[in-house]
Amino acid sequence: MARQKRLYGCTECGATFSKWAGQCSECQAWNTLVETVVDLTPTGGSPGARAAGWTGQQATVKTLAEVSTEEMPRQPSGSSELDRVLGGGLVAGSVVLIGGDPGIGKSTILLQTLCRLAQTMPALYVTGEESQQQVAMRARRLGLPEDSLKVMTETCIESIIATARQEQPKVMVVDSIQTIFTEQLQSAPGGVAQVRESAALLVRYAKQSGTAIFLVGHVTKEGALAGPRVLEHMVDTVLYFEGESDGRLRLLRAVKNRFGAVNELGVFAMTDKGLKEVANPSAIFLSRYETPIPGSVVMSTWEGSRPMLVEVQALVDSSHLGNPRRVTLGLDQNRLAMLLAVLHRHGGVATYDQDVFVNVVGGVKVLETASDLALLAAVMSSLRSRPLPMDLMVFGELGLSGEIRPVPSGQERLKEAAKHGFKRAIVPAANAPKEAPKGMTVVPVTRLDQALSAIF
Ligand code: TYD
Ligand code: MG
Repeated sequence: MARQKRLYGCTECGATFSKWAGQCSECQAWNTLVETVVDLTPTGGSPGARAAGWTGQQATVKTLAEVSTEEMPRQPSGSSELDRVLGGGLVAGSVVLIGGDPGIGKSTILLQTLCRLAQTMPALYVTGEESQQQVAMRARRLGLPEDSLKVMTETCIESIIATARQEQPKVMVVDSIQTIFTEQLQSAPGGVAQVRESAALLVRYAKQSGTAIFLVGHVTKEGALAGPRVLEHMVDTVLYFEGESDGRLRLLRAVKNRFGAVNELGVFAMTDKGLKEVANPSAIFLSRYETPIPGSVVMSTWEGSRPMLVEVQALVDSSHLGNPRRVTLGLDQNRLAMLLAVLHRHGGVATYDQDVFVNVVGGVKVLETASDLALLAAVMSSLRSRPLPMDLMVFGELGLSGEIRPVPSGQERLKEAAKHGFKRAIVPAANAPKEAPKGMTVVPVTRLDQALSAIF
């Protein structure tokens, strides 16, 4: 019989206490104690009764050479963009967490995927958020095959796992982990302890049974998956669904993947018939103007394993605040402040009396430093009210001493831009190819002042 004890653990320092308190007496943090359950079942005895790790496997010791490394068989999910972020398809026994804002399309993409997969393998869709009717209505409206997918409305993790053991699905969705609770804890569903314990049970079930499980996780206002990142280390793959909920485009980004590359990006469009994949997304984020406008410049970013052209926009306006505003959407705000300081020191352009707003068009997040040069080009263009030519493309990282540093995959970025008709590119000297792509002039630059005079 499993013996269990209730404890209170601090989410900051990990200390445990037998009583709840408002302040952790170890690290002095406030409101960080959450309820957890520890299993006190004695170890030893029969090997089968021993508590096992995450994977539910007994520990054995082998040399690396003895471990068989057969390639994990991949099950294509039926969507090439989803397969791309998963690293080539679904792996049996893997747990994938899909996070994103409410209404972004998590349930939609999983329903579409499971309906397709259910045609060839047993699949179970567990939802704690919608009724069976709602799920069925959505499937019908999207014209998905309805005859094979099994749907269950349930929030108690023990019943979910019991049902799964009966039904033996090969792939399963739990939507969403915040609505699921375990009977072992008395705290409300959605709390850190509940989310963590329920997820741990699901992970163990996945590893024991070889079922691939998708967990849906809502993102809190601060942008973290609820339960201070407690889920991310437990699961094999973490995908984030991004995009403007009023826009059509949705980006699925892998931020952790034990079976593939991270920062791989899948692109989808939300239509009235559900999510459709965008197989060739390199230029979909470019808006085409009739005439060039100030404050806009195109850069080539590298997303996972392919280049993508995005437009960076800036608006610079005289400020009446003691502390002028620095606002970014889709870029790093601290990086903007740093780049404006570099622009002042090494480009001789002051912005301390200006509000600066920058935005990446289409809700894209550019996480790489290759956007530095494009960002400053957009700021300068807006500040001087001088539009840049529409066939200009810029990328490069900026160092604190005003030097322009190379970025990875420069050639591919240039080729992609040339393919889309860009005629002139300003790039770090180390990224300049021996032979420029056809129809394109490549201007190599090594310092900020040199780049600015090449652009303007
Ligand atoms: P949903 O998958 O329910 O979001 P999540 O599970 O991430 O909270 O997506 C709901 C949104 O998508 C909703 O605002 C309506 C929109 N939508 C469409 O535009 N077309 C469709 O075919 C579907 C199913 C949803
Ligand atoms: Mg949903």
